[in-house]
Parts: sequence; structure tokens; C-alpha cells
Amino acid sequence: MTNSATGTPFRLDGQVAAVTGAARGIGRRTAELFVTMGARVVLLDRDSDDAQAAAAAIGEAASARALDVADEAQVDAGFAEIVAAQGRLDILVNNAGMAIRHPTTELSLADWQRVIDVNLTGSFLCARAAGRLMTAQGSGAIVNLASIMGLSGGGLYPNISYQASKGAVVNLTRALAVEWAGQGVRVNAVAPTWVDTEFIAALKANETLMAEVRRMTPMGRLASTDDIANAILYLASPAAGMVTGHILAVDGGFLAQ
Ligand SMILES: NC(=O)c1ccc[n+]([C@@H]2O[C@H](COP(=O)([O-])OP(=O)(O)OC[C@H]3O[C@@H](n4cnc5c(N)ncnc54)[C@H](O)[C@@H]3O)[C@@H](O)[C@H]2O)c1
Repeated sequence: MTNSATGTPFRLDGQVAAVTGAARGIGRRTAELFVTMGARVVLLDRDSDDAQAAAAAIGEAASARALDVADEAQVDAGFAEIVAAQGRLDILVNNAGMAIRHPTTELSLADWQRVIDVNLTGSFLCARAAGRLMTAQGSGAIVNLASIMGLSGGGLYPNISYQASKGAVVNLTRALAVEWAGQGVRVNAVAPTWVDTEFIAALKANETLMAEVRRMTPMGRLASTDDIANAILYLASPAAGMVTGHILAVDGGFLAQ
């Protein structure tokens, strides 16, 4: 699909997008950018008040719905509601995520399971719900949030459940891309380095670790939410019409080392 009205394939005019974990951080910035580029966006988050406030701040093309991505019934009901209200779904950004950072020998099964449930099973449940709509429609784009920690063993601190879940998101992306390529649905992922959001609040408060992040990152800085949202927009937009199954690192050179 190209955009003949504006002549730019990076716009999303007339498209409907769902962004999970959109109450703050990368998801919120992505929702704002999508609206700027012409889309209607539904912000999905387990934090209902912040999601409502974010949607109100973005404007009338944005709306919000409370949803825990790890809850099958909530996900299926939420996507049914989106289609009932908006008539279609063109883009899903599987952005909701969490981390519980402990040495592996001290990580409980419950903490391991919660991270896998949100980051991996949540991505599966939302992709399945969106994929049912998109394959029937014959078009759609899904962008998953992986991480450099899904493609490397890390090194800053132990984070096994997060790294395992993001590694799985990488191959979930490739497998869904292959499964749905013939039905007009593209599936890609962005793999960010450390991004300046509340997600790394504890890290930002520790100057020793921050110095180590700068040392480990060839470009020597955190990514901004703009850096990540711009990459998500590219993969979601008609500009990436022949791109599927790709993992786009936005990492200041981390993985190039
Ligand atoms: N910030 C980073 O350094 C970084 C780096 C690489 C990848 N990522 C990934 O990017 C994504 C967004 O990260 P962020 O930095 O914006 O995080 P954030 O903590 O600022 O925001 C995450 C949002 O997801 C929501 N959320 C969490 N669990 C949820 C659930 N079960 N159901 C619905 N919503 C839920 C939260 O309420 C919050 O609004 C995550 O998948 C994260 O793993 C972040």
C-alpha cells in the first residue's frame, strides 16, 4: 500500500493502529507519532488512568482501553471491541513489556513466569487476535518490541527471564512473518538499546551503571523514545512494504561490536 494522497510512504492516513503499553514511554511516543502521521490509534495498557490521560493529551484520533496483554479473555475482548468501534485494524505494536532483574540463582519461578507471560505470551495473544483480523482483511503490519537483550547475553546485570523472553520474541517475529506473508500481513521487530524511559529508572539513578552503558554503546548515549518510535513507524508504514521478518536494531552500534 502506498499513499498517493500525500506522496509519502511514511504516512498512515486512514489506518487504525493498536499500541500496547501505550500509557507512557516508547508506546506513548509511538501513539503520538502515529496520530501525527494520520492514523487513528487505540492505546492499550493495564494502567487505565494513565492510558486515558495519554489519549486525551494526544487528541481526538486517540482513544484508550484498559487491557492486560497476558490475559487471554481481556485481549480477545479488547481487539473485538477495537474492530466494532473502528471498523478495521491495520497496525499492531506489541510494546507492553516488563523486567524483573535478579541473578538466576535467586529468581523465583513466579517472577520468571510473569515476565514470560507479559513479554512473550502477551505478544502472542495480541498478535493472534490482530492476525485473525488482518489475515481476513488481507493486509496489516505488526511491529514487536524485542531488545538488544534478545540478541546478546547482556553483561550489565543478570536478567535471564527478560533476555529469554526477548530472544523468543525475535523468533516469534520471524515465524509469524513467514506464516502470514502470503496473506498480506507483515511482521517485524525493533530491538532497542537502553531507552530513556521509566523502564530503566533504577539504572539511570546509578551513575556507575550509566557510565558502563555509555562505554558499552559505541554512540555513547541512551536512545530516546523518538529514536525508537521513528523505527517502529518505518516498519509499520507502507515504506516497509517489502520488509517482513526483520529485526531492526536501534542500538547506537551495540550489536555491531
Ligand atoms: N526502555 C528500555 O531501555 C528498553 C530497551 C529495549 C526494549 N524495551 C522494550 O520496549 C517496550 C516499552 O518499554 P518502555 O521503556 O516504554 O517501558 P515503560 O515501563 O516506560 O512502559 C511500559 C508500559 O507497558 C505497560 N504494561 C506493562 N505490562 C503490561 C501488561 N501486562 N499489559 C498491558 N500493559 C502493560 C505499562 O503499564 C507501561 O505503560 C518494552 O517491551 C520493553 O521491554 C525497552
